[in-house]
Amino acid sequence: MTNKIAVFRRARFNAAHRLYCKDWSFEKNDEVFGKCNNPSFHGHNYSLEVKLIGNVDPETGFLINLNELKDILKEEVEDRFDHKNLNLDCEEFAQLNPTVENITIVIYNLLRKRLDENKYEIVVRLYETENNYAEYPIL
Ligand code: NI
Repeated sequence: MTNKIAVFRRARFNAAHRLYCKDWSFEKNDEVFGKCNNPSFHGHNYSLEVKLIGNVDPETGFLINLNELKDILKEEVEDRFDHKNLNLDCEEFAQLNPTVENITIVIYNLLRKRLDENKYEIVVRLYETENNYAEYPIL
C-alpha cells in the first residue's frame, strides 16, 4: 500500500492591481482589460490554496509539519503581497501583468524554492474571486 497523500493549507491576502500592457494605448487596454484597466487600481481578497503531495513520514505521521508550511506561506506570500499594490509595490510584477494566472505562477515559484523538491510536489490554486481562480502547475 502506498502512503502517498495530499495535504492542503489556505492563506489569504488583500491586494490592489491594475491589468494593462504598458506598450498599448489606453483604448486598446480598455478594450481588452475593461474595468481591470482602471488607472486608479482596484482590489481583491485573494484566497490561496496550496496542495502538497508526497509520502507520509512513518516516524512523525506527517507529510509536512503544517506549522512550518504556515510560516512559509506567511513569509513568502502574506508578508510579500498583503495590503500591497501589486503593480507598484511588488518587484515580481514590475514587468509582469498581475493577472490571476501570473500571480499563481509567481507564488508557485516562491514556494518551490522553499520546499524540498525530493519530498513534495506542489499545486497552487489562487482564487481572485469566488468564481475566478487559477491552478498551477497542471499535473
Ligand atoms: Ni482585478
